[in-house]
Amino acid sequence: MPVLSSKFRMNRFMHGAFLREIDRLLGRLDDLDVGDPAQVAGFQLRWNFFTETLAAHHAAEDQYLWPVAERSADAEEQVVLRAMSAEHDALEESQQSADAQVSVLDERDSTQGIEVALRDLASLLAGHCLHEEHAGVPIVAKYMTQEDFDEFMASSRNLSDGDLILAWVCDGAPPEIVSGTWSMLPGPIRMMVRPRANRKYRRFVKECGF
Ligand SMILES: [Fe+2]
Ligand SMILES: [Fe+2]
Repeated sequence: MPVLSSKFRMNRFMHGAFLREIDRLLGRLDDLDVGDPAQVAGFQLRWNFFTETLAAHHAAEDQYLWPVAERSADAEEQVVLRAMSAEHDALEESQQSADAQVSVLDERDSTQGIEVALRDLASLLAGHCLHEEHAGVPIVAKYMTQEDFDEFMASSRNLSDGDLILAWVCDGAPPEIVSGTWSMLPGPIRMMVRPRANRKYRRFVKECGF
């Protein structure tokens, strides 16, 4: 029995969070003093969190979503699934070129080159997220079993910063996404995890300086 497309709402919530985070990073570049080591370190810390979370998101999709659908997809669907993997590769390349600039931020006179790299990444990512939600996910949902889906969800639960990621997804999100995100956890676990995760996220924001 295939899973419902609506089960992939956390995927959509994550996409929104990635796009908000790039905006946040771009906004920070507007007033970042590249001559201040603490500000640069804070920016790099937040950038590393973003890139590691994005890489883990794509790795889980490449491992658990596309291969499962590829086993049963027809020729037209195979084209979409191959596009999903190709878009991940293009995003990784774009992210690495931004990475190369962020890592030497303290040696720069201005943030201009980094801004261009981040805007390129933002535009690629926005396109991929839309394509995935509208074309990729419906194909995956058509062929994925509940067992496959559970395995996919378990992979994200095992992330070391899983609670921090939940609080981050809610930062700047509309109320229905905030409640939808926390409702993924069973009530008693939510009551324990949510305040702890929010405290951890507030500490992280403070450490980054934005
Ligand atoms: Fe995704
Ligand atoms: Fe993706």
